[in-house]
Amino acid sequence: IPVPNLISFAEALEVGYSKYKNPYHNLIHAADVTQTVHYIMIHTGIMHWLTELEILAMIFAAAVHDYEHTGTTNNFHIQTRSDVAILYNDRSVLENHHVSAAYRLMQEEEMNILANLTKDDWRELRSLVIEMVLSTDMSGHFQQIKTMRHTLQQTEGVDKAKAMSLILHAADISHPAKSWELHYRWTMALMEEFFRQGDKEAALGLQFSPLCDRKSTLVAQSQIGFIDFIVEPTFSLLTDSMEKIVMPLIEEASKSESPAFGTHSQNSLGAVSNPEAQRRPTFKSTSDGGTHTENSLATVDLTSFKDNLMKIIQANKERWKELAVEEELVKNVGEQEKDQSRNSTDAQLQEETTRIQNESSQGSDGTTCPPRSIVLQVVSFDTSLSDESNSEKCTNSDPNQKDLTDAQQETQNTDPLNGEPKHCKKTEDLVKATEQKEALIQN
Ligand code: CMP
Ligand code: MG
Ligand code: ZN
Repeated sequence: IPVPNLISFAEALEVGYSKYKNPYHNLIHAADVTQTVHYIMIHTGIMHWLTELEILAMIFAAAVHDYEHTGTTNNFHIQTRSDVAILYNDRSVLENHHVSAAYRLMQEEEMNILANLTKDDWRELRSLVIEMVLSTDMSGHFQQIKTMRHTLQQTEGVDKAKAMSLILHAADISHPAKSWELHYRWTMALMEEFFRQGDKEAALGLQFSPLCDRKSTLVAQSQIGFIDFIVEPTFSLLTDSMEKIVMPLIEEASKSESPAFGTHSQNSLGAVSNPEAQRRPTFKSTSDGGTHTENSLATVDLTSFKDNLMKIIQANKERWKELAVEEELVKNVGEQEKDQSRNSTDAQLQEETTRIQNESSQGSDGTTCPPRSIVLQVVSFDTSLSDESNSEKCTNSDPNQKDLTDAQQETQNTDPLNGEPKHCKKTEDLVKATEQKEALIQN
């Protein structure tokens, strides 16, 4: 890649990612997903299965995957009959635009970072990039998971483009698998972006999309749903897939003695999986001897990779559960206020909020919770928007769980992302699970 071309291209990407001043879908998200893809390739050992061209395709796809994102969802484009929705016939509207616009940049000679690829390599890379970026459309999520799960049960090898698409998709939704501080910030940024869409929807007289009403969206509960339904299954599938692909490579490399396990692993691995991998220079190896190397297969520890991820995801979910209880309490106060008529002052609300703040200023692990503003920010005190339906309560001995369950029941008509009552009414559970999934993929 000619360096001046790379610089021009990267600068143009930054401009495109900044075009709509999005709180979430901006250049930092692009950098974050690109770095995460890189991390996954190294730490799962999957880079040893991929050719040089495929590794380039992965990094490139991650870098462009949300290029010129408008800060609004595909559904919003479709509902407002935007130019891109018309152009792409309502199919993966944004994702089609991200790849197409990035490739259009490279039509300019000075930005053409792929100028030195052969025709065949250029075609192959393009085909992979298109497949990967289109697979970041959340409306394809459940099908993607199902297909990949099915593939893992077969004896044949895993399709490269499918495995690479899963890596990009996982990286794209990976912030719940990172430290709480990062995950919390990303979530707040995304919510603000959704709320801005909600403001536009209100101005246009459209119905709020899920999670887009800044006055009634329950952020903590939505995150529990997102982690349960989307993130956990995706990362569990990712680690299972990596295991199926990489374990044989590790076994093969360890049998064929140390050089293959260290510095020269690409030769042996190329022979194992794909002769083309032999063309790859020492991307994965930094030392010049036959000894231990930084990113060799010998250093891959899939079990730790998996355990670590799952631990972080669980810990984040627990934090959201604590916040969901507070969220629910604050919401209840708002509803009680409504019941007691509008002339009651803010005193009760103030009192309850202070109590919640005092009670919950520490997380269960002893660390400080994020600012309470999340709770106050997202819960509606505007009585005109609340739903008054009185739901049947579940009985549950755990008071926290009960609060959660009640909250889930009471809000089921207003926010389809708000978890379902897990302890009662099995059929309703199923119906709600489906509704949740639909709501999630809409965004
Ligand atoms: P995008 O980055 O285009 O692709 C993945 C999508 O998943 C992302 O846009 C959001 O719409 C959605 N997403 C990512 N993280 C979350 C989250 N924590 N809660 C809800 N939706 C999310
Ligand atoms: Mg996207
Ligand atoms: Zn993204």
